Amino acid sequence: MTKDTTTTSNDYDTVPYPGGAFPGTHPSHLAMVGRLCQVETPEPKNCRVLELGCAVGANIAPMAISLPDSEFVGIDLSAKQVEYGNQMIKDAGIKNVELKHLDITEVTPDLGKFDYIICHGVYSWVPANVQEAILKAGKELLTDKGIQYVSYNTLPGWNLRGVIRDMMRYHVQHLETPEEKIAQARGLLEFLSKSVKTGSEAYATLMKDEAELLRKRGDYYIYHEHLEAENEPLYFHQFVDRVDKAGLRYVADTAVSTMVAQMFDDDAAEILRDVPVLQREQYMDFLRARMFRCSLLAHQTVDVSYRMHPSVIEPLHVRLHQPAFIEQSNEDQSMTTWQYGGQKWTTAAPFTGVIEKLQRGFPGWASVKELTADIEDAELRQSVMESLLMSHMQGLVALSYSPVDFCTKVSDAPTCNEMARTQLKYGNKVTTLLHSDYFVAQPQQRLLLEHMDGTNSSEQLAKVLADAVNQGHLQVSDKDGKVENLDDDFYTSIVNRELERFVALAMLAG
Ligand SMILES: C[S@@+](CC[C@H](N)C(=O)[O-])C[C@H]1O[C@@H](n2cnc3c(N)ncnc32)[C@H](O)[C@@H]1O
Repeated sequence: MTKDTTTTSNDYDTVPYPGGAFPGTHPSHLAMVGRLCQVETPEPKNCRVLELGCAVGANIAPMAISLPDSEFVGIDLSAKQVEYGNQMIKDAGIKNVELKHLDITEVTPDLGKFDYIICHGVYSWVPANVQEAILKAGKELLTDKGIQYVSYNTLPGWNLRGVIRDMMRYHVQHLETPEEKIAQARGLLEFLSKSVKTGSEAYATLMKDEAELLRKRGDYYIYHEHLEAENEPLYFHQFVDRVDKAGLRYVADTAVSTMVAQMFDDDAAEILRDVPVLQREQYMDFLRARMFRCSLLAHQTVDVSYRMHPSVIEPLHVRLHQPAFIEQSNEDQSMTTWQYGGQKWTTAAPFTGVIEKLQRGFPGWASVKELTADIEDAELRQSVMESLLMSHMQGLVALSYSPVDFCTKVSDAPTCNEMARTQLKYGNKVTTLLHSDYFVAQPQQRLLLEHMDGTNSSEQLAKVLADAVNQGHLQVSDKDGKVENLDDDFYTSIVNRELERFVALAMLAG
């Protein structure tokens, strides 16, 4: 691919990438996906992790806190981002993570072996020699049963988005500064989405959908996704060929639910059922016009099985994504229908009992072994595990190999997780204990989280809010945006509501 001058090689110093926490890259998740495919993945609680293109370390720094006995190394080409990230890591007192200013092409075995190598949002945006170096790092640095995670833009879906990119790059080619380029790129898309008049409904819809999407994304995203000199989407089969040439093998994608053909209509599912996995994955990308993949790789010596016997989930942990409410049960309680985040979910006994337990423990994790321990009949136990596995494949429940513990009830002295309290000093984005991002939008939430250091009760937190309002530092409102009486009950109700929210978000360590 030819280099051009639309952007320069120091782009991430000029327009830094804030990054974030990606749950699908956490070692507990990667280990879980490996286990589903019967790979004996390394123990996340005591592992070494390398992130290639880690930016400011917003992904691995919270991981390092969540796995204190594991060791994390991040490398990035942008000196500015590495310096910023290391300052934050020092500030947070995290001892088991280090960011290095290093080019991926200069990685050598001196870094040691790693159980998990993560490379998110880099592969499609770097030249061919760096792409080769990413896979070479997997081949040379992965431990025997280690897993490498690589995400990339895929075809045919990206052909659609590429139309937007081409037009934006044409439009900004004579501009100098990133600010001008971003503003003009946004302007062009708005203009197109409002003014396109063709006989093609599909083209007008594409413009509108992309404009809608990009309105919600930050400037850094437009700059690095659409205006970046390098952006090479590729077909899954092309990626798998490269992986093969690098001496590695494809294991699975990080969201295994995308690997199930049943999400298509019966005829398509029937046709896809007997197609070998790698080809099936490619045809499913054709069906979905898939734009992005997060693929997991391993050494070619690692055996992978896609037969997924239900017992593979026995060593795992499970949780509901959202609360489940019983809508109705039939008379003998053999079938139950749940309201589950806007959809209906029907379960049969004894699986229903398992969902009831998960609901009682929501939003927490439960061990599959313990959840099913009281089902004495081996066949029934097996069928419950099969239902859990199917529910995961349908995106209804989350699985993890060794999840991070968090508080599922409001305690006497609610404690915000350590990483989030440090992150609040740098901005509004914090990491939950499910390793995902949360934007602290309201000043009252920020104030509470800052004071949730394990020394304040709910009553004291209510007083913190009242003091801030009385001193004119804060304005508060109830959930309907109203202020009735600024009395103790009002502040207590706000604190209780926010604490419940923090519990549901897995923000509380105690
Ligand atoms: C789009 S950002 C993704 C950052 C982060 N992984 C994330 O997903 O939030 C790409 C990152 O890769 C880094 N990068 C690009 N080329 C690199 C290279 N040759 N060696 C090391 N880092 C590189 C950039 O500096 C940038 O921080």
